[in-house]
Order: sequence, then C-alpha cells, then structure tokens
Amino acid sequence: MEGKKIAIIASECQPFFASGGLGDVVGSLPKRILKAANDKKEEKNEVIVILPLYSKIAKEYRNKLVYVTQHVVTLAWRKQYCGIFKYIDKGVTYYFLDNEYYFKRSAYYGYFDDGERFAFFSKAAIDTLLFLDIVPDIIHVHDWQTGLVPVYLRTNYFGDIRLMNVKTIFTIHNIEYQGKYSFDDDIIEDVFGIDSVNAYLLEYNGCLNIMKAAMECANFVSTVSPTYANEIQTPQYAHGLDYEIRRVVSEGKLRGILNGIDKNFYSPSKDNALFEKYDRKSIEKRNVNKVKLQEMLNLPVDENIPMIGMVTRLVSHKGLEMVKKAFEELMKEKVQVVVLGTGDAQYEGFFKDMENQYGSKLRAIIAFNQDLSRKIYSASDLFLMPSVSEPCGLSQMIASRYGSVPIVRRTGGLADSICDFTLPGGNGYTFDNIDHNEMLNVIKRALNDFENKETWRKHIEKVMSVDFGWTASAKKYLQMYEEILEK
Ligand code: GLC
Repeated sequence: MEGKKIAIIASECQPFFASGGLGDVVGSLPKRILKAANDKKEEKNEVIVILPLYSKIAKEYRNKLVYVTQHVVTLAWRKQYCGIFKYIDKGVTYYFLDNEYYFKRSAYYGYFDDGERFAFFSKAAIDTLLFLDIVPDIIHVHDWQTGLVPVYLRTNYFGDIRLMNVKTIFTIHNIEYQGKYSFDDDIIEDVFGIDSVNAYLLEYNGCLNIMKAAMECANFVSTVSPTYANEIQTPQYAHGLDYEIRRVVSEGKLRGILNGIDKNFYSPSKDNALFEKYDRKSIEKRNVNKVKLQEMLNLPVDENIPMIGMVTRLVSHKGLEMVKKAFEELMKEKVQVVVLGTGDAQYEGFFKDMENQYGSKLRAIIAFNQDLSRKIYSASDLFLMPSVSEPCGLSQMIASRYGSVPIVRRTGGLADSICDFTLPGGNGYTFDNIDHNEMLNVIKRALNDFENKETWRKHIEKVMSVDFGWTASAKKYLQMYEEILEK
C-alpha cells in the first residue's frame, strides 16, 4: 500500500526549543507516527515538521541546520523574507523558517504582535510546502499559533489545485489560550490578509478567535485526552468555546487521544541530570538522589522524611488556590515540599513567603530549569498535581517513570492516566473535587502509607512499571489520519 505524507506544523518542538508540554509532544509524536506507519508495512511514508527558527534554538542544533533556499512570503501588504533551513533526524525532516524580525526575540510568546508573528509563520509554512513542491496528504497543526493554517487553506488558497486534497487536523493542547483579538484592531485584512467576506470564520462572541476559526476550518479536531474531550463540551472547562466544541462534536469531528512521553528522553537509567541513575531493579538508589537534593537545597538531610515535588507553571488552573488554602495544615506534617516553576506573581510571592516561614520544610525555586526538574522527579517520593483543569499533563507520567508517586485531581489527562491505589490497577492517589480538604486528606493518606516501607516499595515498583510511552497513542493518531483520508 502507498504510504502517507504528513506535515506537522507547530510553534515549539523538543529538543530545539520548548516552553512546555506542547514542545514535548511535537518533539516525540512525528517520529512515533512515522514508526507506526512504517510498522504497517506501507511504502514511502514521509513525516515532515515545520517550525519557526527562533534565535533561542539550542546552539548545538543551530550549527547542524542546513540552508536550503529562501522565498518571499506575502502577508496582507507585507512582503517578508523567509529562509528555509533543514535538519533530518530518525527519518523525520524538520524545516525551520527563518525571519529575524519575527523570531529573534528573547521569549517565544508574549509580544504585542504575536498575532502577526504566527500569521506570518502559518502562511509561510503553506508557502514553503508549495515552494518546495511538497504536497502532503495530511497537515496536522497544534494550538492557536498554527490555527490559521487550516483557515488559510479554506480562504486564500481555496481553489489551488495542488492543495485540493489536503486534509487538516487541529489539535488543542489547552483551550484556555485561543488567540483572541478585538475587531477594532482591523487585524483580519490588514494583518492576516484574509478577505473581510471570510471574517465570519474568525468571529466568536463579539471578537476574533483563531482557535474557533481553526476548529471551523479543520477536517478534524483533536485534543490530548479523552476526558478533556468531554470536559471541554461544558462551560466549566471551555473558556467560552463550549458551544463551538459541541458543534464540532455534532459533526463527528472531535477526538481525544492521550499523549505519551518519550521514554528515552525521560529515563532514570540514562538521565545525566540525576545524582545517581537507577531503574526499577535498583529503586533504593532514589534515596541517593533525595539526600543529595536535600543537601543541594539546604534542607534537613534525612531520607525518612517524605518529599513532595511540584514542577509546574505557577498559574491558577494548576490548582494552586487549593495548595494555598491547605498549606499551613500541610506544614504540620512530617514532610518536605520542593516547588519548581514560574508564573503569576501572586503564586511566586506566596511560595517565597511560605519559604521564609517554613524554611526547613519548603524550597521554592522560581525558575524554568530542566536539569533541576529531573532531579526533583528522581528525588521526591510524591508528586503533587491538583489541577483544576489539565488537558493531558505529562508531569504525572514523567514522575511515575522516575518512581515519584503521583497525587492528582481526577480531571482531563490526569483522570485518564492515574487511578487510585484503592482500585484495581491503582497507580497513584486521586481526589475528585476542587476542595482543599479533599486534597489534604489524600496527601495525608499518602504520607501515612510512606511510613510502611513494604507498601511504599510496592507503590514505587507499580508506578515505574506503567508504560506511558507513545506506542498506543501513535497508532490512534494514525487511525485518525486514515479515517480522515477515507472521508
Ligand atoms: C499543554 C497542556 C498539558 C498537556 C500539554 C501537551 O501544556 O496544559 O496538559 O500535557 O499541552 O499536550
């Protein structure tokens, strides 16, 4: 059977550049989809990934990129340079689109002209495919930053015979970030270069909304866990888009596929960030990691004190209000808490204040630090993720792989990946409601279990044995591609 040509377009990708889970997923999914397709013995499968060339790209990769060519991309009245660089890894071809005006910045997002930057990128990605004469069967885009790709295909490129049979998928990694603009900004024609007769595609609840337009124009919409796919049909989770999601459901085009993690990238037996490497057969070495981390962070050094880790963006949907309310009570326990993350000033301030008050029990490191995050996964006994909403969540999977037992609220991907120890097949601690007392009770239950060495050893072995790799999910993505191509 003839294979498939798949183009994945996204705004971040490990190991080149990432600000969060999106980068992890785009980093591993393409290779795993290619493998799943090749495993089916189809001929000539091809997966390409198109990314912006941020100046922040890791140096070791910058030096490996090969210049291919350049072209000019038109965005409304603008004519912009677009350099094309190439890199091949494990059979996947990565194209990096260069334009320093848009991508030579100190951060990936958060600029007044993000709309223009990612409109440029989305348009440039399509133009690059045409310029290189690549006609994919499937174009798979991720989050609002690349949401204009299916919209352009339905508008500016409508009728282009080369793209006529291309099918599109839009994946929502977090419905909270939609790419919204006011009509007053005159952005549709002047920036996106989309004719005003098509403005209705972007219109939602009195403003412009790229995520809504992407859902409307894509052939399929997916999100990163089955439970989240249900949750976002309700106002509680949809950040205003529930009506639109229900429309997508009624058309039969919504799917929920749980993410996996790259088991090589996250592996305690290979991870150079750890003080001491280990695997399921040498879990006692986790204690070395714990003791060394305690030393490094200037916490009391004692392997018998249970350590709770949190590696998270410090924003409200991560459940930090519950943590705030429960904190004083939690500090009465025999426990150490290590928090790593950046985010809203109020939460950064809260953890810093608490650290001043409970210096021997809490370390709050306000930073994004991959190396330290891995040390925390390997040293902590418990990993707390009390999210109010969580599309998928990768940290509970990474923590499990490193033997840190997850405590999660049952929402989104957390509900789909972690099941309470009291149930058959249990692999963690869970609670149901957004209620700090419920959270506290389950933490206390876990701290209590920790005291029983035999139970605890079994818990670690159990969580480390769960397979959170990509094999099953990559197959589901492939099935989705096949379903869409048959339509
Ligand atoms: C976003 C979501 C997170 C998910 C990740 C990858 O960061 O908030 O839950 O795991 O995307 O899909």
